[in-house]
Amino acid sequence: MSDSESTETGDYRTSHIDRGDNYDCHLAREPFDAYMCDMERVHLQHIVPQLFPDGTARYLDFACGTARITEIVAPIAQEAIGVDVSPSMLAAARQRCPGVRFVEADLTRVAADLGTFDLATAFRFFGNAEVALRQQALQVLAGLVRPGGYLILNNHRNPRAVYALLHRLTGGRPEMDLTHAGLQRLLAQHGFQVVNSVPIGAWLYRSRMLGQVRTIDGGLLRREAIFGHRLLAPVAPDTILVARRRA
Ligand SMILES: C[S@@+](CC[C@H](N)C(=O)[O-])C[C@H]1O[C@@H](n2cnc3c(N)ncnc32)[C@H](O)[C@@H]1O
Repeated sequence: MSDSESTETGDYRTSHIDRGDNYDCHLAREPFDAYMCDMERVHLQHIVPQLFPDGTARYLDFACGTARITEIVAPIAQEAIGVDVSPSMLAAARQRCPGVRFVEADLTRVAADLGTFDLATAFRFFGNAEVALRQQALQVLAGLVRPGGYLILNNHRNPRAVYALLHRLTGGRPEMDLTHAGLQRLLAQHGFQVVNSVPIGAWLYRSRMLGQVRTIDGGLLRREAIFGHRLLAPVAPDTILVARRRA
């Protein structure tokens, strides 16, 4: 799994300022990143219509980047807005989703008059962001998602994933700090209740295996189904969490 998007030092806000031109290629090049992208798409195409069988009025993609997730969810929304701090990521997003409104803003620092949303997503953000930025982002999202609405996010940097534990036990450097339980606690502190957790790659137990998965096929989908129970989320390398904003 690529960790070049995290910042062990520095400010995550500036991590993607100039990455719009190569972000998608970079994800596609790394086998496990590409695999996660495919599986996230498969799951979102199932989860979102289940939550909103008649579509949703207002959808926000927070830290939308190049609109990887926006593109999947926006078609079921009457109005979709993507927000990011990086002009280059947003330039790619605008090309990918011409019907979506993209806003360049850091909502953790400056409020914008965007109204409230039935559904928000935030992918590949919380596992990378610093502790303070995670808190600030959730505070913002708690104000933007209407009571009873949903926030769907992921954590693709779980230090308790089996492969990560083995990696550390065999001398690997600890690089990740957001556990599944930690993210659930953080969500609860900001008024979100996790109603579903969907693990991805819980069957991958060695870091070497992450470099070997390829685009999903029937065999891999069967493996995901077998290891897809929410009880395995604490040890999965990537998990999608569906959180409901408390009324
Ligand atoms: C790894 S990318 C993820 C992009 C997209 N969500 C995806 O899953 O492909 C993280 C994004 O977070 C953005 N970001 C970082 N801090 C932010 C902030 N305070 N507000 C909005 N976006 C932010 C970065 O500019 C970058 O585009």
